[in-house]
Amino acid sequence: MHQRIVVLDFGSQYTQLIARRVREQAVYCEIHPYTFANVPDLAALKALAPTGIILSGGPASVYEEGAPTINPGVFELGVPVLGICYGAQLTAKLLGGVVTHAEKREFGRATVRVVNPEGIFKTSSTGEDLTVWASHGDHVEGLPPGFVQTASSENCAMSGFASAARKIHCVQFHPEVVHTPRGAELLGNWLFGVCGARGDWSMASFVDESIARIQAQVGTTGRVICGLSGGVDSSVAAALIHRAIGDRLTCIFVDNGLLRLGERSGVASMFGDHFKIDLRVIDAEERFLAKLAGVSDPEKKRKLIGYEFVAVFEEEAKTIEGAAFLAQGTLYPDVIESVSFKGPSAVIKSHHNVGGLPERMNLALVEPLRELFKDEVRQLGLELGLPRHMINRQPFPGPGLAVRCLGALTKPRLDVLRAADAIIDEEIRAAGLYESIWQSFGVLLPVRSVGVMGDARTYEEALALRAVHSRDGMTADWVHLPYDLLGTISSRVINEVRGINRVVYDITSKPPGTIEWE
Ligand code: XMP
Repeated sequence: MHQRIVVLDFGSQYTQLIARRVREQAVYCEIHPYTFANVPDLAALKALAPTGIILSGGPASVYEEGAPTINPGVFELGVPVLGICYGAQLTAKLLGGVVTHAEKREFGRATVRVVNPEGIFKTSSTGEDLTVWASHGDHVEGLPPGFVQTASSENCAMSGFASAARKIHCVQFHPEVVHTPRGAELLGNWLFGVCGARGDWSMASFVDESIARIQAQVGTTGRVICGLSGGVDSSVAAALIHRAIGDRLTCIFVDNGLLRLGERSGVASMFGDHFKIDLRVIDAEERFLAKLAGVSDPEKKRKLIGYEFVAVFEEEAKTIEGAAFLAQGTLYPDVIESVSFKGPSAVIKSHHNVGGLPERMNLALVEPLRELFKDEVRQLGLELGLPRHMINRQPFPGPGLAVRCLGALTKPRLDVLRAADAIIDEEIRAAGLYESIWQSFGVLLPVRSVGVMGDARTYEEALALRAVHSRDGMTADWVHLPYDLLGTISSRVINEVRGINRVVYDITSKPPGTIEWE
């Protein structure tokens, strides 16, 4: 079993980054809300046998009423502790130091001078200046007994302080953000120098551990059903579970008629032919389109598609004898978003399009990606032999082309959109932009305009081209695609796709727009 670093989260916007930066150094790291350690008995924390504990930053001030705190027993466990920003101030306060409101706050880039090259600063020399990223209004004025200053800055004398004997190290800045250029080195000093981390976390070891875990959960006879969407998460989950239990995994792929060109055949050949997974491809196009006939209200479309998916999936799943488990591609951000900081009471976001199914069908969940970030899922996919073009696919919404085909859906209109979308995909890839863009796609508008092709008048619909940069889908900027590329896409779509005679470019960011049009 690998070593584990535990981050106690005080609500910093950077908490996830801490875990990622630690994992990037091949050390496993997980996040728990601070409430996990704000209990008289620290049994749950001790049970995790952490190799080191990191106290994150946070928006509160340690002297505020009801400010987040922890049981000071955390410092008596003999486990190294790293306090970052709020975590540093809390450490000082709990161990007898003095924290005050700083006259000069520190936000953004700052320079800290190493005073004592100890612990986290081990690879620096005394007097060396480091560029860091800071964001705090409070600072530590008086150190707790037994602590020494390790770094200082113009606006914050105690930028770093530590007790080497107690293995407690604190920094007022954020080593986890990229704006602290040597942040990884500082974290590495703490991980390997102070905690004695071995660097035993790798995708290969994750695969072995996960396989053992899946086998233990599912047993020697259990069957698992997995809804494949063609997206990265469900594909990687399926490939991993298949490694663990072979033909006791059955995958269901629902062709709802709202898929992109070649999507169904791609999934069938990859999972059915290549991986030899028991794959059921359900042809439900007619069924979906019948339900959706004449419906143009976006929310109605979404709901109908959701209900129909559950109905089709459930019907098929019932024919799989002895199935007791349902696989889901839930990722770590979904898990921490729902349990972090505010406490574990919030409900875990139900992912994918299988909402309600586990309870209705009495299925237990298998979620082998629960501990991974998206980029780790991609790494895992490559480790499992999935091709790069599938691993790096742009996100595609559950309701598929339905939310990109505005107005009432018909098969001919969907075919028009599919053809245009394939051209966009091809040209964006050919321009070498596909992987740097969050999403690029076409939206068919129920607007007809007059055009002229050859000597003939045309009266056809318009296509909006959408391309956005985003980090997480929550906010997005439209991409400044090169004019030549816009020109190529426009002329190819109009020349090659009957039904579109005008292409426009969507230059709306999110907010105020959303990424999808419906
Ligand atoms: P919006 O349009 O809300 O989209 O700005 C944000 C991100 O979410 C994707 N999206 C969905 N993904 N099921 C999904 O799995 C859905 O119903 C759904 N709707 C939107 C969208 O493609 C973008 O990446």
